[in-house]
Amino acid sequence: MRIIPTTEMAGDIQKSLGEYYATVIDSVGDGVIVVGRDGVITLCNPAAEEITGFSRRQCLGTVFEKLFSQETTLVEMVAKIISTGITISDHENVLVRSTGKVKPVAVTCYPLVLDSGENIGAILTLKDITYIRELEAAVRQADRLSTLGTLAAGLAHEVKNPLGGIKGAAQLLERELSEGNDLREYTRVMIRETERIDHIMRELLELASPRGLTHTHVNLHKVLGDILLLQQQAVAGRDVSFVKHFDPSIPAIMADEAMLTRLFLNLIRNAIDAMAETGQLTVVTRVLSDYRMTQNERHSRMVAVEVADDGPGIPPEDLENIWTPFFSTKSSGTGLGLAICHKIVAEHRGMIKVDSEYGHGTKFTVLLPLVQ
Ligand SMILES: Nc1ncnc2c1ncn2[C@@H]1O[C@H](COP(=O)(O)OP(=O)(O)O)[C@@H](O)[C@H]1O
Ligand SMILES: [Mg+2]
Repeated sequence: MRIIPTTEMAGDIQKSLGEYYATVIDSVGDGVIVVGRDGVITLCNPAAEEITGFSRRQCLGTVFEKLFSQETTLVEMVAKIISTGITISDHENVLVRSTGKVKPVAVTCYPLVLDSGENIGAILTLKDITYIRELEAAVRQADRLSTLGTLAAGLAHEVKNPLGGIKGAAQLLERELSEGNDLREYTRVMIRETERIDHIMRELLELASPRGLTHTHVNLHKVLGDILLLQQQAVAGRDVSFVKHFDPSIPAIMADEAMLTRLFLNLIRNAIDAMAETGQLTVVTRVLSDYRMTQNERHSRMVAVEVADDGPGIPPEDLENIWTPFFSTKSSGTGLGLAICHKIVAEHRGMIKVDSEYGHGTKFTVLLPLVQ
């Protein structure tokens, strides 16, 4: 079937039709490349330029096999289509851009057939699936966390009772020893270390248990203000300042207040830990309108809370590990803080991300839906 443009066309109808079809092809969001029987590229739309990194000028008139010499799969697909006339759909490929970046692309290849049935080339459509790959990675991370969580919960329950026994025995022993006895040093170590394990176990349980949320109207600024007030003690004696930029127009949000307190306390404590003798912790709140979470899920308004420090930042090789339970670079860290943060944010159907340039501080941004 031929598509006939509905606009009135005066003058050279052939030229207008050509322009019309060119505009249609250029407006398609997927990359389109057409290769003639002789292997020469005859068409390339802007989306294809964007995906491949080759400009239209570089493409047109060039032999496909030469330009895409590194992409053997693509070259083979085109050759097969031209010789057999079959269609190859949704081949998930990896395309190396001319810029050197590797981009995941789904490719469909159609034969270009005349009314007479003659096969005169191949049409390639390229869809950038970077976004889908990122979503898949996020799902895998969530899966991993949930398996670990189940294991951890079992372990925590098993360890809790014997641990209580050890602590109780150490306390009894301490009572038996007189005030000045040197052995008290050992009982104190025993008690302190059992408390440390207990702390890890409680955090693990928090990470693992599907506790469910208790939603109330939460005043975010009060939650953040209270945390900052209490954390003043943690920086006493250091030259660390706290700066707040709160957007007063943010209304109360529906959320679990205890969990949000936990979330922001973890982020703020990490920021304080990261800064040495001098530093500045900045907490910013703002409203984002028409924020798009994923292609399907849309929240008309989100609240963004940023917790930024000017500490040393996170080395690039650590960045992808910071959310993994037990990853910690601190001698006394549990490495569970950010895993818990991740979970709390997910339960509130929000998003958390980190921006950190090694040597230039770190910024965590939490996005929460503004449900009223
Ligand atoms: N603001 C920050 N600046 C630098 N590194 C950070 C920051 N926040 C988190 N990290 C890194 O992420 C790791 C994991 O954090 P977390 O899960 O809270 O565990 P913990 O604080 O017990 O180490 C930290 O040990 C640290 O290496
Ligand atoms: Mg922490």
